[in-house]
Amino acid sequence: MEKMDGKTMDIVAENVGKLKELFPEAFTEGKVDFDALKEVLGTFVDDRDERYSFTWNGKSKARMIAQTPSTGTLRPCKEESVDWDTTQNIFIEGDNLEVLKLLQKSYHKKMKMIYIDPPYNTGKDFVYKDNFKDNIKNYKEITGQVDGEGRNLSNNPETSGRYHTDWLNMMYPRLKLARNLLKDDGVIFISIDDSEASNLIKICDEVFGEENFIADLIWQKKFSRANDASYFSTMHDHILCYAKRTKLNNNGDSWELKLLPRGDEIPDGYTNPDDDHRGPWTSVVLSAKSGTEKLIYEITTPSGRKCLPPDGRFWGVNRDRFSELVEDNRIWFGKDGSGIPRLKTFLSEVQDGLRPNTIWFHQEVGHNQEGRQEVKKLFDDKGYFDGPKPVRLLDRIIQISNLSSSDIVLDFFAGSATTGHAVVNHNACNETSFKYILVQLPEVCDEKSEAFKAGYKTIAEISKERIRRAGAKIKEENPEYEGDLGFKVFKLDATNIKPWEVDFDLTERTLEDYISNIKTDRREEDVLYEVLLKYGLDLTLPIDEWIMDNGKLIMKDEHHSQLSTVNSQLVYSIGMGALIICLSDAISLEVVEGIAELKDELNPEIMRVVFKDSGFKDDVVKTNAVQILKQAGIVDVRSL
Ligand SMILES: C[S@@+](CC[C@H](N)C(=O)[O-])C[C@H]1O[C@@H](n2cnc3c(N)ncnc32)[C@H](O)[C@@H]1O
Repeated sequence: MEKMDGKTMDIVAENVGKLKELFPEAFTEGKVDFDALKEVLGTFVDDRDERYSFTWNGKSKARMIAQTPSTGTLRPCKEESVDWDTTQNIFIEGDNLEVLKLLQKSYHKKMKMIYIDPPYNTGKDFVYKDNFKDNIKNYKEITGQVDGEGRNLSNNPETSGRYHTDWLNMMYPRLKLARNLLKDDGVIFISIDDSEASNLIKICDEVFGEENFIADLIWQKKFSRANDASYFSTMHDHILCYAKRTKLNNNGDSWELKLLPRGDEIPDGYTNPDDDHRGPWTSVVLSAKSGTEKLIYEITTPSGRKCLPPDGRFWGVNRDRFSELVEDNRIWFGKDGSGIPRLKTFLSEVQDGLRPNTIWFHQEVGHNQEGRQEVKKLFDDKGYFDGPKPVRLLDRIIQISNLSSSDIVLDFFAGSATTGHAVVNHNACNETSFKYILVQLPEVCDEKSEAFKAGYKTIAEISKERIRRAGAKIKEENPEYEGDLGFKVFKLDATNIKPWEVDFDLTERTLEDYISNIKTDRREEDVLYEVLLKYGLDLTLPIDEWIMDNGKLIMKDEHHSQLSTVNSQLVYSIGMGALIICLSDAISLEVVEGIAELKDELNPEIMRVVFKDSGFKDDVVKTNAVQILKQAGIVDVRSL
């Protein structure tokens, strides 16, 4: 039985595997032979000393940081969630680098759209500093979960010699990990201002490929002039848009922009002078530059005038087709019926939407103040969060992203959770069922801030409360609405599995510590979700509990609550039997047989089973368990 450890997916090993698949000839004894690789790549190798590149101090370390497996896990927190049992939305409290690593397996190529609004690095906002050695410990220190203080995160001043470097080192690994989560036809939007826009474009070109750059959108975030500005009064932010793949450079799956609804607006040039029931139309010439003799024929207009195509030109359709078009009232001979024939093109039959412009004015998508007001309105007119984006801005992004039902939107710099609010709002207004995953650092609120005084110790607490209130408001306004307004809360923490605590003080270890690999302060649920992530399963899959009753495993419901306390052999079935977990301390062969029977009952494609290693009385029971499961066709059996 193979044992699981506390590390996440090894990205380097995974990539090496892919390389090996592509270029087996570039491997000798399991290692990469760079000379051989260069040979296979031929002219695509650029090894000149001076070549086009964008680099900064720490770039290779940042690359390495993205590839180091995480030693963390996501612990479920039902108490802070809304509609835990049914919701498909997720809010994760934690540092997004570690969280993105933890999501790599379960959410590989699962996100249709990612929106992020990272710190702009204006000198006033803080820039998270990763720690190569122990990022989880670092996270706990930064967020005050170790000594209750929280390190001063405040800012990355412009005077710092590492001003741009620190920001780039923070962004680069996160973008790399984010790309892995994008669907092949997915898209990412990133808000930024002039401070780092040029650097961001450079690293995005590198991470996503410059051929996948779609647009640098300009959002008019302000509507009044700042006359005290040193030079220009800045009115806009950038929103960079990159596709994972575009249709211009790829013939596989690629992102397609969804046109904006036309609404009632009729574009210039469209009228309806003959009151055609197909609505407004415009007309185009019927003659063409090239053609055959057959396309030169005489046409008689309704007024009786005879006309031929202009000299050197041809009619665009043959005589029969022309008659059909006349029959269908698609030919326009001018108001008096004597003009040269033209072809009518109806607005209702051309593109059914508007192509968005690259400049987004505040009248259409809101401005900074609107964002601030929206959050204040939800919090009894208190301004608990600086700089939230307006919901309308996110709604526009959601609109054009071309999501289909149950697609997921990810925002890993969630702030006040505008993205979550916009997704549920969009669903409620458009009968869609998009889902969100938000990630937000429990950044400690300043003690002098209104938020802190009102009891919100961290920004993550404000974010969660905002989506609670936004959901409640939607329900209040549409009591009939049955869409998903809930969210599951998870919190980043160190793995539940012990060997990772290398600097354990042995004298403090209890007997329980020696027997079990699972940390004593962790619940079964914590372990369940860690296993789920390791197997790459979705965090919102349903989890059923089964218990032994008269020698048979039966699904637990409210009538069986007393049974589960007497009988600790609880069996969890995740995703209708895709994964079975039993963390009992006394695994009996009866339970193992019950699991084997479950396979027949649930009939999943593959069933994987995980036990607690210390739950087996001895090796004989363990071996028998493996045999019983093998006979039932279950081969993936592991222990913790
Ligand atoms: C500019 S704000 C986002 C505002 C958001 N778009 C809104 O409308 O409310 C950026 C947020 O990213 C968070 N953040 C910064 N570093 C982070 C990290 N390493 N992990 C997770 N969140 C982080 C900050 O706490 C901050 O709230």
